[in-house]
Amino acid sequence: MRVLVVGSGAREHAIIWKLSQSPRITQLYCAPGNGGTRAIAENLAISATDVADLVEWAQAHSIDLTVIGPEDPLAAGIADRFRELSLPVFGPSKEGARIESSKAWAKELMQRYHVPTAASATFTEPSEAEEYLRHQSLPIVVKADGLAAGKGVIVAHTREEALAAVAHIMKDRAVGEAGSRIIIEECLTGVEVSVLAFTDGKSIRPMVPACDYKRVFDNDNGPNTGGMGAYSPPRFATKELLAQIEETVLQPIVDGMAAEDVPYSGVLYAGMMVTESGPKVLEFNCRFGDPETQVILPRLKSDLLDVMLRIVEGKLGEADVQWSEEASCGVVLASGGYPGPFAKGYPISGLETIDSDALVFQAGTARQGGATITSGGRVLTVVGLDKDLAGARAKAYANATRISFDGCHYRKDVALREV
Ligand code: AMP
Ligand code: GLY
Repeated sequence: MRVLVVGSGAREHAIIWKLSQSPRITQLYCAPGNGGTRAIAENLAISATDVADLVEWAQAHSIDLTVIGPEDPLAAGIADRFRELSLPVFGPSKEGARIESSKAWAKELMQRYHVPTAASATFTEPSEAEEYLRHQSLPIVVKADGLAAGKGVIVAHTREEALAAVAHIMKDRAVGEAGSRIIIEECLTGVEVSVLAFTDGKSIRPMVPACDYKRVFDNDNGPNTGGMGAYSPPRFATKELLAQIEETVLQPIVDGMAAEDVPYSGVLYAGMMVTESGPKVLEFNCRFGDPETQVILPRLKSDLLDVMLRIVEGKLGEADVQWSEEASCGVVLASGGYPGPFAKGYPISGLETIDSDALVFQAGTARQGGATITSGGRVLTVVGLDKDLAGARAKAYANATRISFDGCHYRKDVALREV
């Protein structure tokens, strides 16, 4: 089978790595890919958001399955375009992707199906948002409605901060059109866990849970990033908790969307806060998480291609999705200055010294004259696996320290709270 993966991050490298283990794969392509994907797939010079070119290329090259990694092409309707031409595609429709691309829409969906989440209100007028804020207790969360690459959420501790957040998002349009509507939401406290599930629009198969680290520095200091590390499984994510999330969140959302004629297939990602009054949804994503995927897929024992094809056929109920008991820990190595401005083009050394049982998923990398160089903010994810998190963490860091490039920095506390 000839499979195309759309995207260029470590998430897509992990998806391609896992797909490459399937005996039915004959050729893998990645658009546009990175310095790591090119070792197992053919990289194509087509951007992940160039929907028309991707569809045309897949059709012309008889691609048997296209897997969409990032949210932007999904929100732009890439899966619909593939389906219109009867091209097999893994990912939800544009309407389904609203679960991530419109937080207001996701909130209304949750309300209709009694899915536990923070109390909230939606505004299109800054003056009404400002008035509402006068009567709310603090801290409070202000969120842009649309896609903002993690920059659209502000947790405000004072009324001034909350008002400034409204101005920043709605008046200054700091995240563009994504800020034409905002959500003001009750601030939840507890521990966060990402629970992803495969779904064909009817059945769901939850993946193993993971925790990610969004802030750039240790102890959750500094600005938010695309994700600086992840591990699986968190100890607090008990079987009972996961069953509760499946029953009160994942299945009602999939059933609700089906009932509303927005059948949802692909990956449904629930970002959860486990509060004193139970697990509540912080956000949904319409795709695999990054960096969660880098620690989740290495724990998948089943054939990923088989799972994806069954989803495309609407027969996930027949799939056997098995997970290993091993723990995994992933550490993201980033460019100096990231998530602010950073330089690129630095040679990366040490990649050849990685232990055979560790994994490196590349993101912001490129090849130049036989060398691998940095080409993005998050450069790569180093993943260790072991029988427990202490071992997985030790392996991830032992290997991470052998990789170096100018300005390289990474968090030292990934999974530390578990050991
Ligand atoms: P989101 O993109 O909606 O997941 O928000 C990004 C991060 O902001 C989350 O991972 C949380 O750490 C934080 N956050 C979002 N919503 C809330 C909330 N209602 N209460 C507390 N923290 C939140
Ligand atoms: N790790 C958060 C995300 O993928 O959106």
